[in-house]
Amino acid sequence: MGTYLLTGVTGQVAESVAVALAADHEVVGLARFTDAAARDRLESAGVRCVVADLASADFADVPPGADALVNFAVVKSQRWDLDLRSNAEGIGLLTAHVRPGRLLHCSSTGVYAPAGAEVLDERSPLGDNHRAIMPTYSISKIAAEEVVRTMCRLLEVPTTIARLNVPYGVGPDGTPRGWPAFHLAMMEAGMPIPLFPGEPNLFNPIDLDDIAATVPALLDAATVPATVLNWAGHEQVGLEEWCRYLADRCGYDARFEATTSTIGGVTVDTTAMEAVTGPNRVAWRDGFGRLADAWLARAGH
Ligand SMILES: NC(=O)c1ccc[n+]([C@@H]2O[C@H](COP(=O)([O-])OP(=O)(O)OC[C@H]3O[C@@H](n4cnc5c(N)ncnc54)[C@H](OP(=O)(O)O)[C@@H]3O)[C@@H](O)[C@H]2O)c1
Repeated sequence: MGTYLLTGVTGQVAESVAVALAADHEVVGLARFTDAAARDRLESAGVRCVVADLASADFADVPPGADALVNFAVVKSQRWDLDLRSNAEGIGLLTAHVRPGRLLHCSSTGVYAPAGAEVLDERSPLGDNHRAIMPTYSISKIAAEEVVRTMCRLLEVPTTIARLNVPYGVGPDGTPRGWPAFHLAMMEAGMPIPLFPGEPNLFNPIDLDDIAATVPALLDAATVPATVLNWAGHEQVGLEEWCRYLADRCGYDARFEATTSTIGGVTVDTTAMEAVTGPNRVAWRDGFGRLADAWLARAGH
């Protein structure tokens, strides 16, 4: 793949991907750049930063014709019109503007109907998984998938839709990223971790290094109509288990509070992904160990 255009480039996930790709490729990064420090880091790594807002869909400064458009942007305002417009219409209009050679759209396993510990493959029923914590999220991610599928067929842009499970890892600036890092912050503050009733709450966390490493293969797998895959670690890990592991490594007490005001486990089949990408490289205990080390290495610890 020659040139990449990455949206959401300052985000928890995309910054790592952009920095990794920029070592060997021309990478243009798109965001509003509300985080000026992230922009500085990206530009230092060789990423060309272009300001655009998916809500207004003014793409005048966005160069057309990238070999690959990779969409990591997400708007989580919880305002229905804004989130649907930005997440669904936004990627459709951007695809029409860029006319990329290929499209990788980052979706979420939060598009699946809640199913407890059942292992979900790509044909599993969709539903409003994240309603309890982010009312617009699952529905706008489902809507985005459908816009992407339509643009794929309309413009004949080979496309992969990859449904990400739980990303985590250490960012290019050495900071811990993802939901497990949020759990570390809660445990450090002595707060209980919300836990959906009924253990274990299984997920398939995936390290940022594996996410970055699998992007080229996911693009190679792009088709018309779109290929749809889960994007996740092959190991099932309970949220309870990873919190206890992180707590042990960092000297915290892992306490849990049963509540239905959180999401339950979402665990997925990775067979289709692995047929394209091969197995992930980072075992969860190694990745979470690095996360804990980065947490402890923060200034002031
Ligand atoms: N984090 C997770 O646990 C998780 C789990 C499953 C799937 N995913 C998916 O993974 C992808 C990346 O998520 P993330 O957690 O890394 O996101 P994030 O940290 O919230 O970052 C969102 C990115 O989108 C940009 N953005 C927000 N509003 C925008 C707008 N109106 N126009 C243009 N850009 C805008 C932000 O930059 P500006 O604000 O500067 O514009 C930022 O770069 C998303 O598709 C998400 O649904 C995430």
